[in-house]
Amino acid sequence: MGNLIRGNVSRRTLLKTAGGVSALAAFGATPLRYALGAEPLKVGLMLPYSGTYAKLGENITWAVELFVEEKGGMLGGRPIEFIKLDDESDPAKAPENTNRLVSRDEVDVIIGTVHSGVEMGMVKVVKDSGTLLIGPNAGAGAMTGALCAPNIFRTSFSNWQPSYGMGKALADRGIKKVAYITWDYGAGKESMQGFADGLATGGGEIVQALMVPFPETSWQPLLAQIPGLGVEAVGTFFAGGGAIQFVKDYAAAGLRDKFPLYGSGFLTDGVLAAQGDAGEGLETALHYADGLNTPRDNAFREAFQKKAGRDADVYAVQGYDAAQLLAIGLEAVGGDMEKSDAMYAAMGSATIDSPRGAFTLSKAHNPVQDIYLRKAVNGLNMLNGIAVEKLADPATGCSMT
Ligand code: PHB
Repeated sequence: MGNLIRGNVSRRTLLKTAGGVSALAAFGATPLRYALGAEPLKVGLMLPYSGTYAKLGENITWAVELFVEEKGGMLGGRPIEFIKLDDESDPAKAPENTNRLVSRDEVDVIIGTVHSGVEMGMVKVVKDSGTLLIGPNAGAGAMTGALCAPNIFRTSFSNWQPSYGMGKALADRGIKKVAYITWDYGAGKESMQGFADGLATGGGEIVQALMVPFPETSWQPLLAQIPGLGVEAVGTFFAGGGAIQFVKDYAAAGLRDKFPLYGSGFLTDGVLAAQGDAGEGLETALHYADGLNTPRDNAFREAFQKKAGRDADVYAVQGYDAAQLLAIGLEAVGGDMEKSDAMYAAMGSATIDSPRGAFTLSKAHNPVQDIYLRKAVNGLNMLNGIAVEKLADPATGCSMT
């Protein structure tokens, strides 16, 4: 029925204009779309479907779809329509891609993305348009820091969080001097800062940063420097296809026994099988782990495997929780996104029943969550303790106006 309205003027315009209000009034108090049948809610999925992060985008997509299917295809009484866009993990294309979803496709909400640089472009656009944005991965600090906003939420992590947990665990073990190797972009640099802050709790420090441009894999010259740095261990952020290659190259260079490698858990999550023997034994920190063995996680993993034909990983969990958070908001307002204040209030105060364990959101709309320690055993990132309980990002610079 929405098409009846859409002929000349969009539903959005109709609802927003004075004429629209009186047109609705003519049908009585119930908005037209509910009187005649629920209008689909358009969900833009802006994610990488190509490049080093392609598998991450796919798992997020399948998990979002899984949750919506579990709810019979409807959230808050509205049928869900997906519009998918491959962002290629290319920050230069982010503003145009986001604008396409907002202006041309007129999506009601965007779920995206994976890459921090792309996310920054998206944040700028939705701050102007007021479109609801739910981040299912990218950890860019500013999203829930200096650029935080009522319409911006994240169900994943800030880059600082898991890396702080890893650094703190090493500090607790008395490690003092570490080198850090990563991609030279926001996620790499912010992860390094979190790692350094964690290490500093025990008086440790990063004595050398080693960086390659994203998404290059030309780290051999940097690996060659490590034995000369006088460090006890090496910290790292890599993810996706790049992480598979890095872990293999690190082992092949003969560095693993002399300079143990530690990282945020993206290093091994979803990619451990492809890393083979090179990944075995690696210790990482993340807000998800294998072997949680809770009824919630077990049910999710079984359902995801059935849908995707792949094992669930942290990306799938974050995507599933993005859909859960959207559902909580929509249910609070009976599917009427014009009531954005009430919707965002419900989302902001939600407890999300995540496969990772229940979590809440900070005032800046970022998860407050346990950071698990994990050890790679027989191809699984097995739970191996908790680095920090209920860790909140510092949310530097966030004032929610
Ligand atoms: C990011 O760019 O923020 C990012 C990408 C992949 C990850 C984690 C963070 O696995």
